[in-house]
Amino acid sequence: MKIIVIGCGYVGLATGTGFAEMGNEVVCVDKNIEKINMLNNGGMPLYEPGLQELVDRNMSNGRLKFVDKMTVDNVDIVICAVGTPTGKNGQTDLTDIFEVAHLVGKNINGDVVFVMKSTVPVGTTLQCKRIIQDEVFVRGKDFNVQVVSNPEFLRQGVAVKDTLTPDRIVVGVEDDKSKKIMKTLYGSLERIGKPLVFMSIESAELTKYAANAFLSMKISFINEMADLCDSNGANIREVAEGIGLDRRIGSRFLHAGIGYGGSCLGKDNKSLISQAKKFNKNLDILSAVELRNKKQKEIILNKLERHLGNLNGKVIGILGLSFKPKTDDLRNAPSRNIVEKLLNMGATIKVYDPISGDNFMQFYNSADLIKVSGMYDSAKEADALVVLTEWDEFRNPDFDKIKSLMKGTLLIDGRNIYDPALVKEVGLKYSGIGIN
Ligand SMILES: NC(=O)c1ccc[n+]([C@@H]2O[C@H](COP(=O)([O-])OP(=O)(O)OC[C@H]3O[C@@H](n4cnc5c(N)ncnc54)[C@H](O)[C@@H]3O)[C@@H](O)[C@H]2O)c1
Repeated sequence: MKIIVIGCGYVGLATGTGFAEMGNEVVCVDKNIEKINMLNNGGMPLYEPGLQELVDRNMSNGRLKFVDKMTVDNVDIVICAVGTPTGKNGQTDLTDIFEVAHLVGKNINGDVVFVMKSTVPVGTTLQCKRIIQDEVFVRGKDFNVQVVSNPEFLRQGVAVKDTLTPDRIVVGVEDDKSKKIMKTLYGSLERIGKPLVFMSIESAELTKYAANAFLSMKISFINEMADLCDSNGANIREVAEGIGLDRRIGSRFLHAGIGYGGSCLGKDNKSLISQAKKFNKNLDILSAVELRNKKQKEIILNKLERHLGNLNGKVIGILGLSFKPKTDDLRNAPSRNIVEKLLNMGATIKVYDPISGDNFMQFYNSADLIKVSGMYDSAKEADALVVLTEWDEFRNPDFDKIKSLMKGTLLIDGRNIYDPALVKEVGLKYSGIGIN
């Protein structure tokens, strides 16, 4: 099939490349010319394991192209994958989405199937249909415009795998014609057993928000239990195992930590809460989930103050900055919040991240924030060492070496990746999230 993907961010790039890999002819469009130039020169504007190789292969066999202006000629499908950030009062800012709908209406040269892959509030995909139809009408044309909601569930860090072998594909359609086209698009995945679930457009739009709401609820639930463990002596790892083996609960997403970040969970929860408000509905559970997550981001600072007292002049080593491992994404990363507060408190901070250190430093201009080039450099002269992101390379360190480099003895394990006994054995003080 001939496909246009609009937006070359984490989703658009993985999706477009994935469809090219499956044998389609794909043109990816982005209005960010620097990004397009970089891609056309063999570069990669974001860090996503395995993506570079896939892009290189599909560019060299001619199935994948990058352009900065949309030309819609004889294409089967136009996929919208632009960003939907948080706007006023938690509502979704749909500026880029509507810009794309207008562009599509102005540029198409025949019938179009417009597939919404961006996460958008219920009703937006049909709003885009009306915008495209109006633009077509103004041009005096009579093209058939069909829209589809096909929300994306990929996880950054494993986006290539999730694109080529997703758990399921959710597709909201308005008629059999678009259903048939989407069945062709995803046929190769359906034939290897990946469930292709058809539903109404509204249900598909809501499914994406409901999935993120549920996942964040699981995270906030275990974080709240971990907070209790910190006071009552229970161990959250043991509790999580004990409940996770109940198949009604399941063990995944039951890892206590410093709260969720990234560009999706928080933004989508806020959007869903504001969507519900329009119908005078309060999403009480989701509001509590968000509140817990906000509190969770304070936990590291509380622990540091509890153990070290006034943080003015203290040296804190930070391991990991991206909102999760295997991505360079710093959007809503807990590290941002924590580092900003530490700077305000007068601490000196030595940060290390395998990928996102340079990007992180662009946000700040302070002599008290130092980027170092390895985990042991972070530990040097530190009063406390704090793990914020569970990159693999932090998992099995030489604790003796860490102890000998540090000035103090406090190790805060914000992602519960260490065995407390091993840490304590060398004379370090261990503090996890719900594990002591
Ligand atoms: N990042 C994720 O893990 C993830 C997962 C599932 C769903 N989503 C959803 O997918 C959507 C995209 O997310 P993302 O993280 O890829 O965003 P992103 O910010 O990384 O990328 C968006 C891209 O769209 C481009 N763009 C904006 N307006 C444009 C226009 N008019 N024409 C061409 N290009 C334009 C931007 O320049 C940018 O490169 C969002 O709705 C998000 O909620 C994201």
